[in-house]
Parts: sequence; structure tokens; C-alpha cells
Amino acid sequence: MAHPTTSAAAQTDAFATDVYGGLTQSPQKTLPSKYLYDAVGSALFEVITHLPEYGLTRADERLIKQHVPDVLAALGRVDTVVELGSGNGRKTRWVLEACAQRQPCTYYPIEISATALAQCSQALSDIVGVKVRGIEREYLPGLQQMVSLRQGDAPMLVLFLGSTIGNFPRPEAQRFLAEVRKVMRPGDGLLLGTDLVKPKQALVDAYDDPLGVTAAFNLNLLVRMNSELGANFDLRRFQHEARFNVDTSAIEMHIRSCVQQSVHIPGAGLTVEFQAGETIWTEISRKYLAADVLAMGAWAGFTSAGQWLDEDWPFAETLLVAA
Ligand code: AVJ
Repeated sequence: MAHPTTSAAAQTDAFATDVYGGLTQSPQKTLPSKYLYDAVGSALFEVITHLPEYGLTRADERLIKQHVPDVLAALGRVDTVVELGSGNGRKTRWVLEACAQRQPCTYYPIEISATALAQCSQALSDIVGVKVRGIEREYLPGLQQMVSLRQGDAPMLVLFLGSTIGNFPRPEAQRFLAEVRKVMRPGDGLLLGTDLVKPKQALVDAYDDPLGVTAAFNLNLLVRMNSELGANFDLRRFQHEARFNVDTSAIEMHIRSCVQQSVHIPGAGLTVEFQAGETIWTEISRKYLAADVLAMGAWAGFTSAGQWLDEDWPFAETLLVAA
């Protein structure tokens, strides 16, 4: 299947620019978390979702499987399903099968990882009554492109699952929801999955598993800079770290330099100095209260048509309807 794509050269340029910007920041070096998801990173994340310590994805899937009928009953005859971040399609299958039982529909996964997009399109291509149209772009440009193709007046359902919204700091999360609302029509739905606050040790274990899969997922950013930008990071001199920040109610992933060292990144035109113990902040994963999600939705122009919580792993599925 053909997707509108960005050339490999343009993607490398964007990576180089973001690496330059993030690693020259002082006092806290950073890298955008979206770069965690190349082919290796996406495969490692898939493994993470099976780890006993990481209950998030399984909770999300249980809730979707159980409450899809409620979602569709609240919205009516949905003929368009859009997903922000396609993942591997396992959760989405429940939604699309239920939708297609009522009427034919089109599914638009929006995703910057070409690999993830191809896998999800492949995995879901067998559902009778569903057309898959992948869009390889960032979320908001992808959504705008998609609504320009929209026909008819049946409501659309936007899926933003897996607590991906937690990767935005709070103010940005609200602004993002408001931007999504702008491209929706009244009566369209947004199904939003959010991980909830839970005891600190459970959170730290989920992001620093004893098998080291999350560590590999995080350190893969260094591998990417080595292979794509010709950098000379020595992975044995860096360590994965997961911290819970009580003030922002977020897990933060960092990559810690074990020693004082300097690293060359020719593709970004940069030499970086690290102090012993200094970190690169690579991800924020916010944890919410169920009521926070409703408040954010209301602020962004949505009413709530349902909220469902998992019993085993605190997680919320919230159906927001464009007001
Ligand atoms: C895919 C963004 C939901 O924040 O929990 C998993 C990514 N990072 N382990 C999350 C992730 C470390 C994940 N999301």
C-alpha cells in the first residue's frame, strides 16, 4: 500500500536538527521521545507491552474490548476511524470489527514510523468491511490531511490510546486536545486512554524492568545517533534511569552518563561534553487522576460520554464527544 512519505534524507535532517537542539540545552540535555520508535525501538516497545511489570497496554486492551459497544452506541453510525499512533493494531482490531458489523468503514492510522504503519496496515487488512488508509505524518498534519478527505456526515471516532497523551507535558496535552477538537465536528468522538496514578514503586518497576527491555528501548536512542549521525556513543558508559516526579505526576526516562566524557556527533555538527552523572532527558510519561482527564477534555471543548476504569491496573478509557 502506498503512503505519502517523507524522504529518508529529510528525516535524517530533522533528527540531526533535534539532536543538535536537545543536546546543546543547558542545564538539562533532552531528546524528543518520538525518536524512540525506529524499527528496533518499536519492536522493543512491543516486548515491553508483554512484561509483567508493564500493565498499561493490557489494561487499555481489556477496557477497549469490553466497552467498544458502549462507545459505538453513544456515537451512532461511525464510518470513519482515525488513530493517532497506530501501534501494532491489536487493540484497534476490537474497535474495527465492532464498527464494521454495523456498517462499512475506513480506518486511517496516523503514524511517523513507516515500519509501525506498514505492520498495522498488514495486521488489520483482513477485516471485512474495513478499508485501511495509512498516513505517514505527525499527528496534527495527518489529521488535517485526513479530514480533507472526509465524506458524508456520519460521526468519526478518533482513537488516542495507550496513554500516548502522557508523553506531553500537561499544558501541551491540553493544547493538543484543543487542536484535535478543532478538526472534529460536533458529535464526533475521541476515545482517550490514560494511565492513572498508582503507587510509586509499581510505576518505577514498569519503566525499569529487571529484564532490561526498557533500558534497551531507551539506550537505542544512542544507537540511532551512532548509526544515523555517525556518533561515537559507547553504550557501556551510559545507563538507563526511570524516576517518578511527584510534582508533575510523571515518570521521567533519562540516559545517565556514568563518567565524564565527550562524544562526537558529526551528522549533527556537534561535540557534546558530559559530566559524570549528567543525564539526557528522553521521555515524560504523565500519570493522571480520572477526574483530570474529564477536566482537560472540558477545557478543550468536549463533553464526556463515558469513562471506564480497569480494576487490576489503574487506567482510564474516556469517551470525549466534540461539543
Ligand atoms: C507508548 C508512550 C504509552 O509512556 O508508557 C514504555 C512508552 N516508555 N516504556 C509509556 C514507554 C517506556 C509508553 N507509551
